[in-house]
Amino acid sequence: MTLASHDISTFAVLSTICAALYALLHGLKNLRRAAGLKITKSLPPGPVGLPIFGCFPFLTNYPELTLDHWAKKFGPLYSMWLGDQLFVVVSDPQIVKDLVITNGAIFSSRKEMFMKSQIIFARRGITATPYDETWRKHRRLAAGFLSTKAVATYLPGLELEVNELIRQIYIKGEAGLSPINPAPHAGRTSLNNILTIAFGIRTDSIDHPLVGHWLMLSREFMNCTGPVSNMVDFVPFLRRFPNWTMVNRGKKLHRGLVDTCSGLIKDIDARMNRGEEVHDCMAKYLLSVKEQENLDDLDIVFICCAFMIGGVETTAAIKQWFAAHIPAYPDIQARAQAELDRVVGRDRLPTFEDEKSLPYVRAIIKWTMHYDPARYPDPEKFNPDRYLNDKYSNAESANLSDPMERDHWMFGAGRRICPGIPLAEQEIFLAVSHLLWAFNMHQLPDEPIDLKEYDGLSGRSPVPFRIKMIPRDEHVKEVLGL
Ligand code: HEM
Repeated sequence: MTLASHDISTFAVLSTICAALYALLHGLKNLRRAAGLKITKSLPPGPVGLPIFGCFPFLTNYPELTLDHWAKKFGPLYSMWLGDQLFVVVSDPQIVKDLVITNGAIFSSRKEMFMKSQIIFARRGITATPYDETWRKHRRLAAGFLSTKAVATYLPGLELEVNELIRQIYIKGEAGLSPINPAPHAGRTSLNNILTIAFGIRTDSIDHPLVGHWLMLSREFMNCTGPVSNMVDFVPFLRRFPNWTMVNRGKKLHRGLVDTCSGLIKDIDARMNRGEEVHDCMAKYLLSVKEQENLDDLDIVFICCAFMIGGVETTAAIKQWFAAHIPAYPDIQARAQAELDRVVGRDRLPTFEDEKSLPYVRAIIKWTMHYDPARYPDPEKFNPDRYLNDKYSNAESANLSDPMERDHWMFGAGRRICPGIPLAEQEIFLAVSHLLWAFNMHQLPDEPIDLKEYDGLSGRSPVPFRIKMIPRDEHVKEVLGL
């Protein structure tokens, strides 16, 4: 046993040395190729990287901080190499508009990244595909389920889930007596919303096996495809080692996504074939147009997966950030609650129709989503007032002709902009307004919340935390029918 593990580690060391030598030669070849193409001369300035790895090692676990530091040093348009790939980093709204909106026909493709596109999504999944006919078809099919009109029909389901969110927090938190970790509740709410739209099903508690399983897969996806999580994307010779840990993780994740989603799709197919009633949902629709749209099984799996990956961890993270921030600001909490009491009262829960009459709640949400130092002095300060006069929804703001007026860039821009904005917007409003309506949220004296640290290598969530969520009054119990 000892000998075997010794042999394995010797093999690992030897192969690492061989790999390093190969990389050195390969990297030099690439450098010569780049120099030969004379592209380095016309590039915007940027940080100088190491041979072979480029700037990859400098990105650290907090690449956004490093990228921001370089933007301050080299300007709003700079270039850098990550392994064998050249990146141009843009951090000025006007340049973003010129490139991805005005010149969208040129800048709308996405590189088929080794891990994300080739290994995990099998060259599908909408988000990781080139700008081609497959992307057009898959995006069109998905967009039909995410339009403002479609999302309006989901409202009763979204309201059911958010009511369930506060019921569960009330029950599990023993009406404010016990501290609570909001993460699994936020995760299940987001998951149920997408499960309903994609597969016509929902889970009945945070203990349902699908909740833990899917949240684990989403997190693994974020960690395998984050900008600093996999050197194999940037140093191609590493792909020659089939047992390289990241490649194995990517293959395992691919199988996990396919098994989970195809299991749900096959179940719908079988029920349809038996003539049973199946709720209207995206999987049912895709099965019905499979031949007409020339879709294969994996196409259907990964269109559904794009919703499960794009629409769960993202909205759940925003809900968690809100719950992590708000306890430290009792005056902001009280001001939002006063607004809710004025507009909604205490005898019913907020609805999406109230949204336009709740500018302060909207401003809190916009702040939770973004803060830009160029526009707001002291951007780290939780100050929703800076968004009070912003009358636009996220979707409307994304269409403003002046890019400097746009609220934030969290959903991307141009032809690849997130098609889930209307859904995300309604979900997040419902969650934030319900939580504020129902609970006073407090930090635990012995468990301060660290807002500087976060979890995950691409989708960022706060590190696990617990807070006290105390029902504001007797109306909460009554309105929830408890
Ligand atoms: C707070 C929530 C969300 C955030 C921050 C977010 C952010 C993003 C971003 C930054 C992109 C990439 C844009 C690009 O490549 O330039 C994207 C793409 C995408 N998102 Fe979202 N998203 C959210 C919610 C959702 C939801 C709820 C869904 C659907 C259920 C969704 C589905 C997609 C899809 C399918 C794409 C690929 C678009 C394409 O490449 O054409 N997202 N999202």
